[in-house]
Amino acid sequence: MAAAFAILTQHVASEIALVDVAEDRLKGEMMDLQHGLSFLRNVRVNASTDYAITAGSRICVITAGARQLEGESRLNLVQRNVDILKHIVPKLVHHSPDTILLVVSNPGKFLTVDILTFVAWKLSGLPKNRVIGSGTNLDSSRFRFLMSERMHIAPSSCHGWIIGEHGDTSVPVWSGVNIAGVKLSDLNPKIGCADDPENFAALHKEVVESAYNIIKYKGYTSWAIGTSVSVLCNAILSNQHSCYAVSTLINGHHGIDKDVFLSLPCVLGENGVNFIVRQNLSDSEKNQLKKSADTMDKVQEGIKW
Ligand code: 2OP
Repeated sequence: MAAAFAILTQHVASEIALVDVAEDRLKGEMMDLQHGLSFLRNVRVNASTDYAITAGSRICVITAGARQLEGESRLNLVQRNVDILKHIVPKLVHHSPDTILLVVSNPGKFLTVDILTFVAWKLSGLPKNRVIGSGTNLDSSRFRFLMSERMHIAPSSCHGWIIGEHGDTSVPVWSGVNIAGVKLSDLNPKIGCADDPENFAALHKEVVESAYNIIKYKGYTSWAIGTSVSVLCNAILSNQHSCYAVSTLINGHHGIDKDVFLSLPCVLGENGVNFIVRQNLSDSEKNQLKKSADTMDKVQEGIKW
């Protein structure tokens, strides 16, 4: 709903169709959005439990997923989520064969959006450029906010990229952190290292912890991920060719030879991912990506299709 609200208020789409299994809740959410339309641009807001209302969608955003139950094994959690996506993805693609899938569902640290994006890609039969995960665009935004607090410069003027797997094992690319093209690594060559006098690594640690903290305080995270989804949809729907850290099939990049989805800077347009920007990564950064890729590949091997 946060994504739908951001899409409405940022004037990203002219039509939104909401689908859920909880019929009453869905109706309530639809009406509540519709009643604000006189203050916004006119957008058609529809809702149904029937996927037919999504017919002809240019983007389908998937936020459904199951959280880990107490004591549940990783394999079981993965399989339950795969089974949920089996009920969703084929229907979406049936009604919108040329769509772009944007996967946002992130059951937690044992099953990230990156693995579910791989699952959606497999189930959809769509070309790789048309299946995207919300990935580390959110982690990067959290980083830029924290950097802005430290530097007293607006987040939009603080530049830094977090790549890799969303959450705990995400990778901050310290060499690229800059303001107005002034690289912080030129001013502080130890940036991000254990012996960094300014302890910039604490910023990345806070990025990782902030999701857990928000969940502790309010039960879930919503506004920032909703805004991120809206911005990604806008880049795609208006063919912007702008660059975001989103989860994409990275086989062949940075020495990874497995079919896994991880975030790298992607240029987004009307066909989804136009291309991946090749960053100059250090060996340690490449190793971190490889480690995530290996772990994810093992999880993916256990999936029953
Ligand atoms: C987030 O990072 C929990 O993945 C969710 O906000």
